[in-house]
Amino acid sequence: MSQFTISVLPGDGIGPEVVREALLILEQVAKNFQHTFTFNYGKVGGVAVDETGTPLPQETVELCKNSHAVLLGAVGGPKWDQETPERRPEAGLLGIRKALKLYANLRPVTLFESLIHASPLKREVVLDTDILIVRELTGGIYFGSPRERRQGRDGLEVIDTLHYTEKEMERIIRKGFDVAQGRKKKLTSVDKANVLESSRLWRETANRVAKEYPDVQLDHMLVDNAAMQLVRNPRQFDVIVTENMFGDILSDEASMLTGSLGMLPSASLGVGGPGLYEPIHGSAPDIAGKNVANPLATILSAAMLLRHSLGLEEEAASVERAVDLALEEGYRTQDIGSEWERLLGTAQMGEVVRSYLRSPI
Ligand code: NAI
Ligand code: MG
Repeated sequence: MSQFTISVLPGDGIGPEVVREALLILEQVAKNFQHTFTFNYGKVGGVAVDETGTPLPQETVELCKNSHAVLLGAVGGPKWDQETPERRPEAGLLGIRKALKLYANLRPVTLFESLIHASPLKREVVLDTDILIVRELTGGIYFGSPRERRQGRDGLEVIDTLHYTEKEMERIIRKGFDVAQGRKKKLTSVDKANVLESSRLWRETANRVAKEYPDVQLDHMLVDNAAMQLVRNPRQFDVIVTENMFGDILSDEASMLTGSLGMLPSASLGVGGPGLYEPIHGSAPDIAGKNVANPLATILSAAMLLRHSLGLEEEAASVERAVDLALEEGYRTQDIGSEWERLLGTAQMGEVVRSYLRSPI
């Protein structure tokens, strides 16, 4: 029996609807395994702008820092599109990631076999896809300086800077090895070592860290090849670890393999402090308030929370199994179903998953 505090930031649009279902799942897990979860609610995004004038009130930051993990829905919507940059809902998201010093973004891409028709790829290519992408979040070309635009001799010229310290590289590569150890023990390190000096240090670092993980098989792959291999033969991958920009692009590419945005969870982890868990989809204003959003991405994010922040592997696996069962039994929300299937609303899908958690078959 353990006690955990979880900060809950429902956010905007469908955020509150899908988060509600994930919390009911966590409550069922608490019952099944005799844990106590305390949920502390905070405001972020547009709802926070409306009520407090800022997308990330200091109160929310403190709440999150004083918890074991954070579960977030989504932020944004047309209502706030005209706001100034510092009052935009996304600023809340970036702010909380920064405040919690989250440096590792984990995105699993798992194909549920019963949803294989949704994939844009052929069945035999995408079957058994189960990849975890580990992306560095704090360094690289998105944050390096100098960054400028200036008048050169031949007209305008621009500079972006790709900067990494060896320590930053080692930290994320180590995370890749750690999560690979809990999976199929295969790590693909993606770089551009034939061109970039940063990638050459990345590769040396990966080879050095590998000596501490003799049970994990390390391979190196150039990023352009990785982009091809993801659609040619995704089954070859277990865990992929890569730097910020490569990871941004590859994780979006990989997330389309399964073809279902409403199914994909994510985790962002920091150094020791609480991790942040959220579905990769946005606030879907077009379907907000209609009880049709798919809650599974958020429920699977809650499973990641159990695994990565609370260390509750068995509990996490039980949630994933319940989701799998619901899909195998043919339960669908509208985004993953078709007219001739029996379609469920957000709350009904949550209830089905909960019923499999209560009495696994
Ligand atoms: P979106 O992911 O919100 O929606 C894209 C499409 O997928 C829409 O047709 C939507 O109805 C559908 N969809 C998304 N999640 C779904 C779910 N769980 N079940 C069923 N259908 C689902 O992306 P979009 O439309 O580009 O952005 C809408 C708003 O969300 C914008 O304000 C954007 O800035 C924000 N956004 C927020 C993110 C976050 O909070 N992490 C990430 C992406 C966008
Ligand atoms: Mg992206």
